[in-house]
Amino acid sequence: MSSQNHPVISSTGLWTPPESISNAELVESFNAYVAAHNAEHAADIAAEKVKALEPSSVEFIEKASGIKARHVMDKDGVLDPAIMRPRDLERPNDQLAILAEIGVKACQDALARAGRDVRDVDAVLCACSNLQRAYPAVAVEIQDALGIDGFGFDMNVACSSATFGIQTAADFIRAGNAKSVLVVSPEITSGHLNWRDRDSHFIFGDVATAVLVESADIAPANHWDIIGTKLKTVFSNNIRNNFGFLNRTDPAHRDDADKLFIQEGRKVFKEVVPMVAAMINEEMSKHGLAGEDMRRIWLHQANANMNRLIAQRVFGHEASEDESPTVLDTYANTSSAGSIIAFHKNSDDLNAGDNGLICSFGAGYSAGCVFVRKVA
Ligand code: COA
Repeated sequence: MSSQNHPVISSTGLWTPPESISNAELVESFNAYVAAHNAEHAADIAAEKVKALEPSSVEFIEKASGIKARHVMDKDGVLDPAIMRPRDLERPNDQLAILAEIGVKACQDALARAGRDVRDVDAVLCACSNLQRAYPAVAVEIQDALGIDGFGFDMNVACSSATFGIQTAADFIRAGNAKSVLVVSPEITSGHLNWRDRDSHFIFGDVATAVLVESADIAPANHWDIIGTKLKTVFSNNIRNNFGFLNRTDPAHRDDADKLFIQEGRKVFKEVVPMVAAMINEEMSKHGLAGEDMRRIWLHQANANMNRLIAQRVFGHEASEDESPTVLDTYANTSSAGSIIAFHKNSDDLNAGDNGLICSFGAGYSAGCVFVRKVA
């Protein structure tokens, strides 16, 4: 394959909301909601007509997930026990949508890092879990805001959206249909999380990432060869979202559970870990790579214990933070953006020839592998 049709990652971009919520702050608010709910229904609880809600705990959250904090778009709304959702994110149709706005910021960061002029970009793929609307595509709005002459579309493969987007962009380059493609993952997970559900109220955070996938012949000197990609999906109802409340304006809505994120966390853990570990090992051997040939892996950021198990099966030993970095402590689960944040923040120190893997997994089930090699 000539360098004209060889896909590489030229740069990545990141936008992080300034506001962050610690586990202690989150649990205090959740437990205030629980106390108010139980007081309001005290008579029915005593008569066993209503079940008392259980409090959450900081210790549980950290032990079960590795999460210590999360960035969010609206801290006050999420933490107010009477509201417990982000507010005021909906805008009139003649203004830039909030999802497009944060996507643009991540794209601008990626473009600046690559020294790329928007006139050279051909396409924008908005690849994320938590889309704000059905159409027009958020990708086209981002394309317009950036001033890109080309095409864009949205794609949603839940937590694997970014890796599926990278393979799609790489295929455009392999086929000669584009030379420079932005894969942007704006994730306002806080608009889809049930902040009143003890089992999952702690897991998500908001962020936006972008990956600039380009043809090697136009890429900046410092880039990452894409040496192989592999995607997989297997249907499961164990992680599901029937749409979210990003567009709702009535903060009194309390019966949203069916329209928000739900999961069977234990089943997800048990079923996804072996599926992903087997997929990575199979792909590594196809590329002639063994555990010792891998310098670093940037795994999907959902759960520290899941990542420990997967990384152990890739390297053949307990992986260090250097081999398998995590950003869960500060970002929590940012859906499709997680492995890209890990890569963005932990890749500058690698040397030419070093092999790495960006790997995502999540609802669908879906899993994606992008094998990369550093080019100096
Ligand atoms: N505070 C305190 N205790 C809690 C709690 C909370 N917020 N939430 C649940 N618990 C309790 C449960 O009631 C249960 O108690 P019991 O043993 O007395 O019944 C106990 O803690 C264990 O609950 P469980 O749900 O089995 O926890 P877990 O160890 O499986 O951790 C997850 C939960 C969600 C962190 C974990 O399963 C996970 O991350 N799974 C993978 C999820 C994933 O990757 N999803 C992808 C999303 S895109």
